[in-house]
Amino acid sequence: MVTLQLRKVEARYGRRIIYAEASTPEIAGGHLTALVGANAAGKSTLFRRIAGQLAGKGEVCIAGAEPGDLRYMPQDTGMSAALTVYESVVLALKQRQGGWRMGAEELDAVDKILSGLKIGALSDRHLAELSGGQRQLVSIAQTLVTRPRIVLMDEPTAALDLYRQYEVLEHLRAYAADTGAVVILALYDLNQVMRACTMTIAVAEGRIVAAGPTLETLRPEMIRKLYGIEARVETCSRGCPMMVVDRAVEDHEMSGYR
Ligand SMILES: Nc1ncnc2c1ncn2[C@@H]1O[C@H](COP(=O)(O)OP(=O)(O)O)[C@@H](O)[C@H]1O
Ligand SMILES: [Mg+2]
Repeated sequence: MVTLQLRKVEARYGRRIIYAEASTPEIAGGHLTALVGANAAGKSTLFRRIAGQLAGKGEVCIAGAEPGDLRYMPQDTGMSAALTVYESVVLALKQRQGGWRMGAEELDAVDKILSGLKIGALSDRHLAELSGGQRQLVSIAQTLVTRPRIVLMDEPTAALDLYRQYEVLEHLRAYAADTGAVVILALYDLNQVMRACTMTIAVAEGRIVAAGPTLETLRPEMIRKLYGIEARVETCSRGCPMMVVDRAVEDHEMSGYR
């Protein structure tokens, strides 16, 4: 099994420090972990720091995998337009493996991820011709095709309809269970988080303000602190936790912290 832990990690853009000392408990693989927080709280920055795109003090400790086993899917993937969907997923696989020879196993891996995400029918379409949601599914395929042991996905369901949000989260949940990978997802929909993610890390203004089992983390007080929203967490008629929003707290301004 793979684990990931942050120990007093700093993240900065030039001289602007976003995180001074971010620490987490050990994040275990095999299930989904959510990264939540308001706009500009520091979710993407934390991912970039874990992925090695930003420098800073502190340690990103990985056990059971190599740093090279990590894939980060950014919010805006800026896809190259001249390729087809199939080619772009092959390219994502080959960029990691080197060489251009494609064995049966590799072709199989590409077919499997495309059909797993139900986008096999898009194989020959050019990326430029895709809708935003279709492009998002292709990014997810590119990220998973090498079967990484650590997966960071920045808002992977933001462009998807209800059916595909559900399918993608189920796919990722099964992927984590099959591979034992650490899978961390930045998500805004707390009902999605409560349904799919075992653990939740909450960030606000460049600080990790909570990290632990999802239902212990996403209590009404924490939701208010994170988003300026008064909400209830209730149990639906089938016994699942659900969040109901009551009202916005006034003056929850976007701060230019630090
Ligand atoms: N490239 C950058 N250079 C300087 N500051 C940045 C950069 N990207 C993000 N920031 C700042 O870092 C903070 C956290 O941003 P970000 O991590 O993107 O938030 P989130 O992903 O939670 O919405 C914000 O104040 C944002 O303005
Ligand atoms: Mg972001």
